[in-house]
Amino acid sequence: MKTLLVLNGPNLNMLGLRQPEVYGRETLADVQALCHSAGQRLDLNIEFHQTNHEGQMIDWIHQARGRVAGIVINPGAWTHTSVAIHDALIAAEVPVIEVHISNVHKREAFRHHSYVSLVAQAVLAGFGTHGYVLAINHFAHLQRTAQGLSLIHISEPTRPY
Ligand code: DQA
Repeated sequence: MKTLLVLNGPNLNMLGLRQPEVYGRETLADVQALCHSAGQRLDLNIEFHQTNHEGQMIDWIHQARGRVAGIVINPGAWTHTSVAIHDALIAAEVPVIEVHISNVHKREAFRHHSYVSLVAQAVLAGFGTHGYVLAINHFAHLQRTAQGLSLIHISEPTRPY
């Protein structure tokens, strides 16, 4: 069975409490349960993590190399700041889907740029916590198609910064 890594960055442990008008009332435990049931349904093993420490996130991304079929990542505020996470995702050579609960493009200008989008296969924003399920579904869909996950690489030309 293939493994997908679902990674969550800073402050996402506060989901349900933090700005519910933006992020909703579901907790991170609810999101984890959603991801695990999607994984069960689609025959994918889900590893789910959250951290407020950038080095920990980078270590998890490095450890994904050669081990997991895909990474679903909500990098939180590191989306907009972290060249280190961008570089780690390139080094991992694992297909990436970037997820944001809120529609970042409808929010402050500093949320409009993402270092992660430059290395992501796809980006989901504004679907609420369902975005995680959509991302997991998409990996399962790719696995069923002729290409398969293993043929998907992140080495597409990146946009100019
Ligand atoms: C977020 C959007 C980011 O801008 C913000 O810093 C977060 C959460 C989202 O899921 O909508 O922490 O990634």
